[in-house]
Amino acid sequence: MTDIAGMSKVLSNIRLSRDFFIMRVAAPNSARMGQFHMLRSWGAYPLLSRPLSVHDADPETLTFLFRTVGQGTKLLSELGAGDGISVGRSLGNAFPAVEGKIAMVGGGVGIAPLYLASKSIKNPGSPTRVDMYLGFSDEALLTDEYAKVSDTVVTDVGGFITDRVAPENYDCVLSCGPEAMMRALYGKCKRTGTKLYVSMEKRMACGFGACLACSCKTTGGRKKVCVDGPVFPAEEVFE
Ligand SMILES: Cc1cc2nc3c(=O)[nH]c(=O)nc-3n(C[C@H](O)[C@H](O)[C@H](O)COP(=O)(O)OP(=O)(O)OC[C@H]3O[C@@H](n4cnc5c(N)ncnc54)[C@H](O)[C@@H]3O)c2cc1C
Ligand code: FES
Repeated sequence: MTDIAGMSKVLSNIRLSRDFFIMRVAAPNSARMGQFHMLRSWGAYPLLSRPLSVHDADPETLTFLFRTVGQGTKLLSELGAGDGISVGRSLGNAFPAVEGKIAMVGGGVGIAPLYLASKSIKNPGSPTRVDMYLGFSDEALLTDEYAKVSDTVVTDVGGFITDRVAPENYDCVLSCGPEAMMRALYGKCKRTGTKLYVSMEKRMACGFGACLACSCKTTGGRKKVCVDGPVFPAEEVFE
C-alpha cells in the first residue's frame, strides 16, 4: 500500500453499473452542497489528484459518486473497504441556499452533487419543493435514493433531460452535467426569466487557486473554477 499524507479510510466502494461507482470514506468534514475534494489513492503517478464532487456528507463521512474515464478514476474504482485514500479538504464554493419551487437537473455523473444539494435545501419543515430531473445515456441509476431526498424524480435515458424541464414552473434551477446540456438549459431559463446556477467542470491541477489550470471565461473576466466556482450563475459563464 502506498503511504499518502493525510490518509483517510475507504468504508465501502460499490459498483453500480459498468463504469459508475459509489464510494464512502471516513473523513471528518464540514462539506457544503456543490463543493468538491481532490482525491488520490496512489503515490507519485498519476501526478495530479482528481476532483470529485461531494455526493453526500455527514460530519464523519464523505460519499462520492464517480464514473471511470481514465487512470485516476480506474485506480479509485479498485479501492475496497479499509484501503487508504487522501481526500484533502472541501474545496470550492457551494450551491446557494435557494428556496421555493426548485428544479435540479443532472446529466450523467453530473447528478452527483445534486443529492446533497436537495438534501440540504429540503430542510425538515421547509416548504421548499425540489423536482429532480436526471438524464442518463445508458441506464437510470440511484433513482430510489434521489426520490428519498426530493419531491419528484423525472428520468430520461438516451434522450435530452432538458426537454422535460419547464423552467417557468420554478423559482430557481440548479444544474450539473455536460456543458452542452447546461447551455441548452440556460437557453430555456433565459426565455422564461428563471434563475439558473450551474456547476462547471474544468480540468484541475492544484484545486485551490494556485495554478490557473481551471481558468474559465466569464462576463466578469477569467475566473478559476476551483475557487470562484465550481458553481456560477449561468449568465456569467454562458453569455
Ligand atoms: C469540480 C469537479 C467536480 C467533479 N465531480 C465529479 C464527480 O462527482 N464524479 C465524477 O465521476 N467526475 C467528476 N469530475 C470529473 C473527474 O474529475 C474526472 O473524470 C477525472 O479527473 C478524470 O480522471 P482520470 O484520471 O480518470 O481520467 P484522465 O486520464 O485524466 O482523463 C480521461 C478522459 O476524461 C477526460 N476528462 C478528465 N477530466 C475531465 C473533466 N474534469 N471534465 C471533462 N473531461 C475530463 C479527459 O479529457 C480524457 O478524455 C469532476 C470534475 C470537477 C472539475
Ligand atoms: S486547479 Fe489550480 S487554479 Fe484551479
